[in-house]
Amino acid sequence: MTTMTGRRDISELRSQRWFASDDMRGFAHRQRTQQMGMRRDEFMNRPVIAIINTWSEMSPCHAHLRDRAEAVKRGIWQAGGYPVELPALSVGEVMVKPSTMLYRNFLAMECEELLRSHPVDGAVLLGGCDKSTPGLLMGAISMDLPIIFCPAGPMANGQWRGQKTGAGTHTKKYWDELRAGNITQDDWVDLESRMTRSIGTCNTMGTASTMTSIVDAMGLTLPGASSIPAVDSGHTRMASACGVRIVEMVWADLKPSDLLDRASFNNGLVAYMALGGSTNAAVHLVAMARRAGVNLTLDDMAEVAERVPVCANLFPSGQYLMEDFYFAGGILAQLNKLSRHLDLTRPTVNGRTLGENLAGAECWNDDVIRGEDDPIVPLSKGKTLAVLRGNLSPSGAVMKSSAANPKFLRHVGPAIVFDNPGDMNRTLDDPDLDITENTVIILRNAGPVGAPGMPEWGNLPIPKKLLMQGVRDMVRICDGRMSGTHYGTCILHVTPEAAVGGPLALVQTGDLIELDVRAGTLNMLVEETELSRRRAAWVPTAVRYGRSFAALYQQHVSQADEGCDFDFLSRGDPVAEPVI
Ligand code: FES
Ligand code: MG
Repeated sequence: MTTMTGRRDISELRSQRWFASDDMRGFAHRQRTQQMGMRRDEFMNRPVIAIINTWSEMSPCHAHLRDRAEAVKRGIWQAGGYPVELPALSVGEVMVKPSTMLYRNFLAMECEELLRSHPVDGAVLLGGCDKSTPGLLMGAISMDLPIIFCPAGPMANGQWRGQKTGAGTHTKKYWDELRAGNITQDDWVDLESRMTRSIGTCNTMGTASTMTSIVDAMGLTLPGASSIPAVDSGHTRMASACGVRIVEMVWADLKPSDLLDRASFNNGLVAYMALGGSTNAAVHLVAMARRAGVNLTLDDMAEVAERVPVCANLFPSGQYLMEDFYFAGGILAQLNKLSRHLDLTRPTVNGRTLGENLAGAECWNDDVIRGEDDPIVPLSKGKTLAVLRGNLSPSGAVMKSSAANPKFLRHVGPAIVFDNPGDMNRTLDDPDLDITENTVIILRNAGPVGAPGMPEWGNLPIPKKLLMQGVRDMVRICDGRMSGTHYGTCILHVTPEAAVGGPLALVQTGDLIELDVRAGTLNMLVEETELSRRRAAWVPTAVRYGRSFAALYQQHVSQADEGCDFDFLSRGDPVAEPVI
């Protein structure tokens, strides 16, 4: 029974089925909580709030989340709740091999099952490094308890010898300069300690800030939270405010299913395109939407990309960093400049509509945060997301054409094909290799099943001898992904992937590849009779795992255009709460 004020009665909270039950299990739940030093009145008759924390000493992006969990707890206590911190897999992008993408669904399962199996009424989700945002939210959307996403926040700006340096983007840039002989080994070592000068997520518009900004626009964070730098004292205050607000949300029973529909995903897409966000979001958003019962497709994304240009002047498409973006007004100022594309009536976690949250959001630097009349990349020059189909990618491939060299957006060139990254790296550095900047480099077996886990191998290296000639971009094609911090004419997520018999498996070195980004096509210029002959002769080469999480992953993962979720998780079938 909900009261006149819209507040639920304590007896309606699921935690009470653990703590208020007058039986032996209920006794044990109360007894064991007091075993940890809690007074009875500290947890009885209060909403129980989980803090799902992806802190880890192997994730620099989340290194401060232990402290932030304390701030969240402070807010929960103040609002009359009982906070419980539950650690979860960190999926820290930097250290995990082969790719945190292999473990995104693992975290999604963990988050869902932590919420299902414990006596909790709502949760604050602490994450932000690339896969942690979709992983936590996929699980929470499926569980559908009140939640707030508390983003880890980007690291402070980096600088080296007077130049702005961004995580990922400048690692790649200076790696190429080192290989080209333009910086020294000593310079390279010096960069190690200067480029990433604080804790927090990548300070470029990589996958982390892409995903946290998108979910901010979708109403799943406190408004503007995604732009606050990790080291800013405002970040701690935001964490504490999450704690206060989640208790109110539990009383009001405000759940993801009340917040998410096609229009809120569309709001997320507007943010995605305006920010020049990571191609990785094209996978994660499909997975998240399917969990929420929304059938979001690559074509839905391309349609928004056709009308919302890259407006945020942030690396890798532009030239500023996330701290600049925050000082300029952050995501709220950016969205305010694009309000005509948004559904301003969508509710958000703070109980107000998106429109109410954007009202008065000012922009303090029109060079960093631009409007669609003055974009950083006009729609005619490139887009955040282009979808390509053809006989090489019948179910779609994606690219960020705004971060590519425009001269390659229409291109025909001969392929050089690699089946694994080891062969590719060795061959591309051969000074005698027959290759020009018009060659199309292809790496396959990097997809969800093939690698497995669809690693970020897609920013294929430019051959050393071409780097030394000044070449910095080429057409590259892969069934894997690419870091959101990277740039170049990289065609990614080729679907179906080679490992499951997609046509990418049939292409051979020397075949002509035709790319036309404006027309949305990607083809190999090979006769169908020849392709049929190759198809008949094709034998799968991808290693199939017999045990471990990789085996489960290979058996159940969907292709990139379907979000790479597990078949048994993306369905909406209800799961019963454990009875006793
Ligand atoms: Fe964690 Fe970039 S490595 S956000
Ligand atoms: Mg990344």
